[in-house]
Amino acid sequence: MPVSYAREPVPTTRRFLMCPPRYFAVRYVINPWMNPDRPVDADRAMEQWSRIRAHYIALGHKVEEIEPQPGLPDMVFAANAATVLGGTVLGARFRNAERAPEAEHYRRWFLANGYRDIVMPTAINEAEGDFVWTGRELLAGTGFRTEPGAHAEAQEVLGAPVVSLQLVDPHYYHLDTALFVLSPADESGQAVIAYYPDAFSAESRGTLERMFPDAVLAGRADAEAFGLNAISDGRTVILPREAEGLAASVAARGYQPLGVDISELRKAGGGPKCCTLELREG
Ligand code: ARG
Repeated sequence: MPVSYAREPVPTTRRFLMCPPRYFAVRYVINPWMNPDRPVDADRAMEQWSRIRAHYIALGHKVEEIEPQPGLPDMVFAANAATVLGGTVLGARFRNAERAPEAEHYRRWFLANGYRDIVMPTAINEAEGDFVWTGRELLAGTGFRTEPGAHAEAQEVLGAPVVSLQLVDPHYYHLDTALFVLSPADESGQAVIAYYPDAFSAESRGTLERMFPDAVLAGRADAEAFGLNAISDGRTVILPREAEGLAASVAARGYQPLGVDISELRKAGGGPKCCTLELREG
């Protein structure tokens, strides 16, 4: 009997902005995964990042690059620098002083690359770290980094409905460490998402259950492996290789999991998605 899925996994071509981890290090602590006493292998970090980039290109996606800056070791986590929707760029305002200068470097990249509609937020806003586009609405995290006021600001600037979600576990300090979109919503149906329920308040869990009754639910081991910090193009799902349970769950829905090694990036509390900012023109 043929297997039928709620949604047929269909890939779409993406355009991403990435920042090579040339100055990557763990020198300060702004999330529970960071420990400056643990050595980081910078060459390995570069290899791991390059492999993620190579996968994107092999899958037919376009990858733009921004020049990394000395003294900004977390700049590799491009997802935190902007939310781009329909060619409009809503920049970042970082919570921590250590990362604050990144926002201006990224703003200049957008300016130099033909973007004319660039708005810098007034509220603390860690961009795609806390804003996830489902194709229909922006799911927006708060609790650790992005302020609730940034959610309203995003709705006004980007012209998309925003659904606020409360994060409650400091290990999952950004929404993109606890939730990702497997297939965006389109005319043919609802978005398919995956998330780790324990990262959210009971009320936000209720919201997610109502909005996405068919979601893939991840367990603790997958969340701890940074499994939810994944990128799906609608068919291939790039995720940390240790997230085996989640890989099996998405495979059961017809997606193709592709495990990657993120041993070094993880020491800063980041994974594949954190290194990836999506440039949505349309
Ligand atoms: N060390 C960085 C921070 O704490 C990691 C950022 C990870 N990025 C993400 N999109 N979750 O800000």
